[in-house]
Amino acid sequence: MALTDTRVAELKRLAESERERRDYPDGFPVLPPLPAARYVDRDFARLEHDGVFRRSWLMVAHGDQLRQPGDFLLVEQLPEPVLLVRTADGAIKAHYNTCKHRGAELVDAPCGNAGRRLTCPYHSWVYDLDGRLVGYPDAADFKALDDRDVDLTAVRCETWGPLVFINLDPDAAPLAESLEPVWSELGEMAGLDGTLHLAGVTVREVPVNWKLPVDANIETYHVNTVHRTSAAKVLDQGSTGIQLLPNGHSRMLISVREGVPLTGKMPFPPLFHEVGDLPDSGTFSYHLFPNFSIVFVGKGFLFLVTNWPIDESMSRYQVHWCSSLSSQDDDGRAANEMFVRFNQEVLFEDLSVLPGLHRSLRSGGITDVNLSYQERRIYHVHEAIDRAIGIELVPGELRVPSVLGPFVEGAS
Ligand code: FES
Ligand SMILES: [Fe+2]
Repeated sequence: MALTDTRVAELKRLAESERERRDYPDGFPVLPPLPAARYVDRDFARLEHDGVFRRSWLMVAHGDQLRQPGDFLLVEQLPEPVLLVRTADGAIKAHYNTCKHRGAELVDAPCGNAGRRLTCPYHSWVYDLDGRLVGYPDAADFKALDDRDVDLTAVRCETWGPLVFINLDPDAAPLAESLEPVWSELGEMAGLDGTLHLAGVTVREVPVNWKLPVDANIETYHVNTVHRTSAAKVLDQGSTGIQLLPNGHSRMLISVREGVPLTGKMPFPPLFHEVGDLPDSGTFSYHLFPNFSIVFVGKGFLFLVTNWPIDESMSRYQVHWCSSLSSQDDDGRAANEMFVRFNQEVLFEDLSVLPGLHRSLRSGGITDVNLSYQERRIYHVHEAIDRAIGIELVPGELRVPSVLGPFVEGAS
């Protein structure tokens, strides 16, 4: 359900009232220390891969990246070779990029247009865009192929307006259910394919565990330090409102400083109306478990951050910049480029400290991470990671005690 006016007003008040808070909130649990090994242990990273990344809905692309029938895009964010394809009827499908003859990779370019067919580069088996095997040379030399599953192996793929998600778990719950309550709250997203344009994609490999940039994106305790000459001039770290949501998701509003105009007049026509004026009241964002943040810069420009493990000490930082103005025309492109440049600069200021954190966590110089009330979203993600892995599978010394359940919105 969209946020009501009363709810919008309450969320703004909750953020502002943080400015007045002097004491640790009554009744809120002390957050137990997080074992540093959760960021550097190879076996734990493997558990995360199997339990979290192979079983969650992951935002991997924007529809503009494969707009025409036959367009394809390799999902380079995961070790599994997954190929997204725009089919003849305009849908997006995901398959393993794996020929069912002997396993050659069907495409090796990161993106392109396959025409009407995908042809394997090894022995020329041919598949249609829906993944069906439609031909292979010397057919008479194969027996019983008709009885076997020789179509490309499908991967679950669903869209939310322009956003493309995949899930490697064939038995996962539907996307809508997994994204609740954000799916309903931000219901307008579903109608924005074609109007929320992709203004660019930024990719950086960073020598840190994937959770370190996630942590930085979901707390504002560092804003006055790391972003003191940029975002902190406009945003008031002390008035950050946070709500923990079911499924490991969360919501955050960091209010604009009193008397400071946020961005002046925004050039972007508004697309989101059902979240009231939250996007104009500061930086409003959602984090969707496990690795995806939607950050509003006003109602017509937003960026989508995803962080991906490469191994326990290396990750891929990816940003999809989205705008109500198309970069196809000059004015739109100029406005988009300006906003991308500024926001990217702020975002990547975090990278000045994160590699140092990772080295420290690996060194034994710090064995436990100590979180404040302001950093409770981080703990919320860690609890969700253990649930996704299966608590009994997490080695005892790495587990995080579950303490936040009663503080999740909607919990009775
Ligand atoms: S592996 Fe694809 S045709 Fe042989
Ligand atoms: Fe930051």
